[in-house]
Amino acid sequence: MSDLLEVRDLSVRFDAGRASLFAPRRWLEAVRGVSFGIDRGKALGIVGESGSGKTTTAMAAIRLTQAAAGRVLLEGEDLLTLDEAAMRARRKDVQLIFQDPYSSLNPRSRVRDILREPLDLMEVGTRASREERVRELIDLVGLRVDQLPLFPHQFSGGQRQRISIARALATAPKLLVCDEPVSALDVAIQAQILNLLLRLKEELDLGYLFISHDLGVVRYLCDEVAVMYLGRIVEIGPRAQVFESPRHPYTRTLLAAVPSLKRRKSSGFKRPAAIEGDPPSPINPPKGCAFARRCPHAKDICLSIDPALEPRAGGRVACHFPVS
Ligand SMILES: Nc1ncnc2c1ncn2[C@@H]1O[C@H](COP(=O)(O)OP(=O)(O)O)[C@@H](O)[C@H]1O
Ligand SMILES: [Mg+2]
Repeated sequence: MSDLLEVRDLSVRFDAGRASLFAPRRWLEAVRGVSFGIDRGKALGIVGESGSGKTTTAMAAIRLTQAAAGRVLLEGEDLLTLDEAAMRARRKDVQLIFQDPYSSLNPRSRVRDILREPLDLMEVGTRASREERVRELIDLVGLRVDQLPLFPHQFSGGQRQRISIARALATAPKLLVCDEPVSALDVAIQAQILNLLLRLKEELDLGYLFISHDLGVVRYLCDEVAVMYLGRIVEIGPRAQVFESPRHPYTRTLLAAVPSLKRRKSSGFKRPAAIEGDPPSPINPPKGCAFARRCPHAKDICLSIDPALEPRAGGRVACHFPVS
């Protein structure tokens, strides 16, 4: 069991309405029985195509989206069963950074106020100690104290992401959820932000739930990797295991299309074509393995029985015929 976060059998579904007035209600099954753990000071990366359920998994894990089922144990305490007041008190331990740092920063607030707001809301320390904390935070993310009176538009994209990171760190969280935190940035700037996140992870013993559709980014930062497909984790394990000897045919297909960060920095790099075909609809997902219809190794059983996530070598794989 992981000492920071332990997510068990988490499911989220959205009401997808009715096909017609008398038809039964349909559900979009965004997250289907997902389990994983994160230790203190470790990063778990969730990768997968757009729509595979990465964001919904993270949002449900920190109770910003309602889960249909499952448990989310933060240091052993189930967040999903806390009452409102207890959850509010717990919020300081889990913070969030998004893809687009501009839309998440109030354009009319000075950086000083942006960083102080979470401290005021949580009533952390005295007024003077909050001022001191704001100066500490700006320094921690590699910006300067003399930039505190500026507004978000006076910063570059990378600097704005540093500001959102500083704001997320204000309440000294134990877990940082990062949803595509560098996807909107130039590749050269991406590396700087990733290095900052890596340094903060070490210095502050932070755990990360790190979401990216970009495997190169996850490979750079994460200790463990989970691969999602149509709302399920199909493979999870230590970084080296997943990247160097992937067992699930879907992981292999994903990896075949990944350049290294270094190669992407070189000019002339073109993003490889996406995998052939589309995933099935998450509304009434198909029986059996969701990847079967795109899988080169699929047999009859794959179309009828959904494989469980079973231990294999260092990790776990959900496949009837894992690649060895
Ligand atoms: N608020 C919502 N209402 C209805 N469907 C949603 C909502 N949020 C996400 N979905 C659906 O849930 C599935 C998973 O979405 P998401 O978690 O955003 O995937 P990812 O982050 O991997 O791109 C998708 O089919 C998406 O359309
Ligand atoms: Mg997403």
